[in-house]
Amino acid sequence: MDNHYIDPLEKKWIVMVAVFLLASWSIILYYAIVDDIHPPSNVEVIDSARLHLDTGVGGGEFREDKLGVHRNKEGNLVVTMVAARYGFYPQTITVPTKTPITFRMASFDVLHGVHIPFSNMNTMIVPGYITEIHTEFQKTGKYPLLCDEFCGVGHAAMYGMINIVPKKDFHLDKGDHS
Ligand code: CUA
Repeated sequence: MDNHYIDPLEKKWIVMVAVFLLASWSIILYYAIVDDIHPPSNVEVIDSARLHLDTGVGGGEFREDKLGVHRNKEGNLVVTMVAARYGFYPQTITVPTKTPITFRMASFDVLHGVHIPFSNMNTMIVPGYITEIHTEFQKTGKYPLLCDEFCGVGHAAMYGMINIVPKKDFHLDKGDHS
């Protein structure tokens, strides 16, 4: 028996593992390209215990009266939200279709997640970090904003609502601010 001998069974397993790896990489690549699904890459820290204050890291971006849908200096739509046991704040947001939207979210307490069905929005909200996602909704409708990381006994009841309206019917409410 020479040193290069590979048992036939071993060979079969090498092929199976290679096929399995290629298949899983292809699936990831397919969804990244076709459905625009990527792991969020934003790294920005924030002091989760001081979200309600102007001081500290973050400087009041997530103060209660600043939450909601607004336009930034460049005129782009930004949704600022807090995730906390057990809800998303504000609980309902209204956004237009076919418009690039940036979501900026922070957790007030523990690890949460956010998932909007029929969209590419699905990410973790890690305490101590700002979650930033860019998305654009194509279809109108009311969708739930679901927490998809187990965060405690109220996890299953943790959700918000997103109301996607036609672009031409969208204007910022009085409650929102620019
Ligand atoms: Cu928040 Cu599960």
